[in-house]
Amino acid sequence: MRQHDYEDSDFDDDSDFHDRLARLQRRARSDRAPAPARRGRLTEDERARLALLREDAYTETALPDGADRWTTWGEAEQGPLPRPDWVITELGAVDTDLGVLKTGKEADVHLLRRNLPGTDGVLLAAKRYRSDEHKLFHRDAGYLEGRRMRRSRENRAMAGRTTFGRNLIAEQWAAAEFAALSRLWAFGAPVPYPVQRNGTEVLIEFLGDGDGAAAPRLAQLRPEPGELTELWHQAVAALELLAGEGVAHGDLSAYNLLVHEGRLMVIDLPQVVDVVANPRGLEFLARDVRNLAGWFHARGLSEQVTAIDELLAELTKAAGLG
Ligand SMILES: Nc1ncnc2c1ncn2[C@@H]1O[C@H](COP(=O)(O)OP(=O)(O)OP(=O)(O)O)[C@@H](O)[C@H]1O
Ligand SMILES: [Mg+2]
Repeated sequence: MRQHDYEDSDFDDDSDFHDRLARLQRRARSDRAPAPARRGRLTEDERARLALLREDAYTETALPDGADRWTTWGEAEQGPLPRPDWVITELGAVDTDLGVLKTGKEADVHLLRRNLPGTDGVLLAAKRYRSDEHKLFHRDAGYLEGRRMRRSRENRAMAGRTTFGRNLIAEQWAAAEFAALSRLWAFGAPVPYPVQRNGTEVLIEFLGDGDGAAAPRLAQLRPEPGELTELWHQAVAALELLAGEGVAHGDLSAYNLLVHEGRLMVIDLPQVVDVVANPRGLEFLARDVRNLAGWFHARGLSEQVTAIDELLAELTKAAGLG
């Protein structure tokens, strides 16, 4: 609870309160003595009482359950509807950082628990875009073409990599990833549900087990031949679905696919490419397909199965081009 009711009865049976009140009254008197209690102005007692309420208002923000912050749900851009029923929307919930899942150049991913005090709550992946790195965002070039911001002060700040500018870039990437996840999730692509975006932080459905062990990246696996073929077909299905919506991942690799409960899930999407509008759209699409097929070939899948050229032709057509 963030707020107390300051009923008079609460004051009466709280002896600690009376001690502190007396202390504050003494302090108030010595600070401002002699202070006549005039009509229409606060009496000293009243002043002390208000000071105490203020003090309580601060101590009250002490978080329950050893949490790190109150939920940021209320301030955040919220995920697409219909919202899964596990999403915690209560403003009395708290967030606890359970550690780093992965640090990267552009973002750090933390494991976060969001719960109502006294309940288990849910685990989330908190992807926090960094703004403190010098060599930020290899993905800036090309991808942001045509997405330029209108306000030139912000453009200059970003170009000059001032602290303000770096933060704006980080925030832009967070917003781009959240928008991409929301869009893809809404058309049924195999992506984790994007819970919210607040500043440079995106909270995403955690893919992993209840103990906080994340689902493995495809790159970490050595699948048996049958499983390998099955995973390739899942990847093709995902690519087709995206292409049908005119989208390419833009940075697809075995590192940006997680295998969660046998399902291939696509992550790391801030740079999704609009295949039709982006002048290099088809180039990005082809690179995605080659990257991924390359990994499957290295694991032993035949090039006849991947049939890259045919697949590319099919995806191009699905995107409404060619
Ligand atoms: N929703 C999620 N559930 C579980 N683990 C996740 C989730 N999102 C990210 N991770 C973990 O964090 C890692 C990094 O995530 P992601 O690829 O989105 O960030 P990144 O900073 O762009 O990483 P990189 O630069 O290594 O590609 C993933 O490989 C995965 O291990
Ligand atoms: Mg990644």
